[in-house]
Amino acid sequence: MEKKAVIIPAAGSGTRLGSDIPKPYIKILGKTILQRSIERFIDVEGLTQVIVATSVNYLKDCQEIFENINYSNISFQVIVGGTERQYSIENALNELSDDVSLVAIHDAVRPFVDSEQISNCFKAASEFGGAVLGVPAKDTIKKVDKENIIKETPDRSELWQAQTPQIFKKELLKEAYKFAIDNNFLGTDDASLVERIGGHIKMIESSRNNFKITYPLDLRVAELIIENNL
Ligand code: CTP
Ligand code: MG
Repeated sequence: MEKKAVIIPAAGSGTRLGSDIPKPYIKILGKTILQRSIERFIDVEGLTQVIVATSVNYLKDCQEIFENINYSNISFQVIVGGTERQYSIENALNELSDDVSLVAIHDAVRPFVDSEQISNCFKAASEFGGAVLGVPAKDTIKKVDKENIIKETPDRSELWQAQTPQIFKKELLKEAYKFAIDNNFLGTDDASLVERIGGHIKMIESSRNNFKITYPLDLRVAELIIENNL
């Protein structure tokens, strides 16, 4: 069984949500979003390491969450994140155990990812080198110029919304991050970095429940999902 790790970026400030508390530490019906997200991973077969990147002020809060979960056979680590999601993950990559061969990256603010879909994603990453969860684009997507004049309408049937987890073979992921650093490339997800070095990445169809808590309305939706077991 290949050993697996998950890196959870949780060092954002949640500007679009506009709350005083960073999103991962907001409680929904008594439990933090971060704890809910971590719990989706702990029963994945072969998972040996969980690394959370968070801001300095929340190191202690993160440790407390680990104590709530308290799972033997898994090492839990918290580290300080960076000013961009990519830098938070860069810091976490240095902490990966030597014996881990597959690495998942999962946003702290996607607490409704399905555990079976996580396992499917790990399997595909093992086969292809990389795999990400996503859903087919729902809206028609427009490409615009700086004045918001529409330039192009890409064929929607070819467009997907990428979610997390995004899972890669460890060496491929590390090489992609090194290449991004060396070439000053800042991407909005991990797959875009791996694409740059020619990695093969499989898109796995997931569910719209695996949305990213971003705006205030998303918190209300999250409450509804938990309350009604949706
Ligand atoms: N993240 C991180 N380090 C950063 C920025 C973001 O670890 N410097 C994490 C967030 O905590 C979140 C995930 O990356 O779990 C996805 O980011 P996003 O949803 O954009 O969260 P925020 O950056 O906190 O929100 P916003 O963009 O609205 O400020
Ligand atoms: Mg952000």
